[in-house]
Amino acid sequence: MFEIKNGQATSKSEHYADLAQQAQGMLAGEPSLTANAANFAALVFHSLSDLNWAGFYLYDGAELVVGPFQGKPACIRIALGKGVCGTAAQTRETQVIRDVNSFDGHIACDAASQSEIVVPLVKSDGSLLGVWDVDSPSIGRFDEEDRAGMEALCNVFMQALDAQK
Ligand code: SME
Repeated sequence: MFEIKNGQATSKSEHYADLAQQAQGMLAGEPSLTANAANFAALVFHSLSDLNWAGFYLYDGAELVVGPFQGKPACIRIALGKGVCGTAAQTRETQVIRDVNSFDGHIACDAASQSEIVVPLVKSDGSLLGVWDVDSPSIGRFDEEDRAGMEALCNVFMQALDAQK
């Protein structure tokens, strides 16, 4: 699979590696979680094709609450274990959903969403920060390369946060 960048086709993994580098530079040295989460969502949303939502759900100690994102207004609160986001938070495993219509308990915030990837965000002390959620209007938009790429991006995000401690 290829992404188009500056009019040139680059491999998906190259594109993610490039994005991770951009994210690292953008987040470095900034202590504000809100600022970094907002810029991270904007960077990813505008750098990958065929997306309709990209953003954070942050764990408040009881449930997931929507955080900085790009896309249409979304569901505000999601219980752990509910929907794709709550499942990623509870299992702490990335969820790659080919067709959200066949995911039992999927929470449809935007009817346009057809496929979804959700990466759990775990702090260095083992506690849950929240999840990173990306939706597409196309079925099967996310594959194993996206899983690896999104997990690498989330690592960059979590490391930038840790470096500020
Ligand atoms: N579809 C998600 C809810 C969040 S929205 O996609 C932004 C879910 O089932 O958890």
